Amino acid sequence: MAKNRIICTENEVDYLSIRKAMTAGARTVDELVELAGVCTECEGCKSELNAILSSVCGCKNVSLEAVVIAVKNGADTVEKVGEATGAGTGVDEETGEPCGKCKGLIQNIIDLGR
Ligand code: FES
Repeated sequence: MAKNRIICTENEVDYLSIRKAMTAGARTVDELVELAGVCTECEGCKSELNAILSSVCGCKNVSLEAVVIAVKNGADTVEKVGEATGAGTGVDEETGEPCGKCKGLIQNIIDLGR
């Protein structure tokens, strides 16, 4: 998973704040404005927000679209989404421990169906 860094330089919104907003239900740039406070106009917002929004699991390179499809096809637990897509099954490269940083977002996608 990517290390934390500032994405929105105008409002100093970092990567983890954006991921937290996604875990709280943000799926669009407009929702990130509301939930994370991004500006949408700075170079970081313009170049990175859409890529961040479209990715669920950085460890396994699993997209939001793939997870939504898995949920629509019946994966109704984080474990089932992991079996279907690999999302949430990554291993922390530094520690060798299971990562699981995206599991909150996966659960939110299950809860919202999007
Ligand atoms: S981001 Fe590490 S398991 Fe998904």
